[in-house]
Amino acid sequence: MIVLVGPMGVGKSTVGQLLADRLGVGYRDTDDDIVAGEGRSIADIFVDDGEPAFRAIEKRAVHTALGEHDGVLALGGGAVLDADTRALLAGQRVIYLSMDVEEAVRRTGLNTARPLLAVNPRKQWRELMEARRHLYEEVATAVVPTDGRTPEEVTEAALDAL
Ligand code: S3P
Repeated sequence: MIVLVGPMGVGKSTVGQLLADRLGVGYRDTDDDIVAGEGRSIADIFVDDGEPAFRAIEKRAVHTALGEHDGVLALGGGAVLDADTRALLAGQRVIYLSMDVEEAVRRTGLNTARPLLAVNPRKQWRELMEARRHLYEEVATAVVPTDGRTPEEVTEAALDAL
């Protein structure tokens, strides 16, 4: 199993699919599992039930996916916030796809479908990165910077890092 972590919009899904193709394995994404399992969007779960409830659902989704899947698995950008989820990643190959704040603002823009960026993207990105960077680093067995790189270049770098 190869697990991809990193902030929203860093390219976990795109790179995850490219990586899975290159390795001839399947690709899975816990955000997709959550939407399918709950029958509603992630934005709706945040609005209706709140972030703590979403994190609890996400923890179960990560646990299930790690048990069922053997390929490339992308986690939601905030999955590492949960200590139990971080513990589930111990012993896994975990690639942290990183990007700096300005790259993040440029890539995600004013995308209000992502509930955590709806008000002031630059300020929210700075706070998110400060709060999470060390958590990504804690779970990662390799870090692959994505700034200024195409998904194909990031995929090559991830393969090199394996
Ligand atoms: C989140 C990231 C999203 C999704 C949810 C919360 C976060 O996943 O799980 O909106 O807290 O960073 P992506 O990283 O796949 O966008």
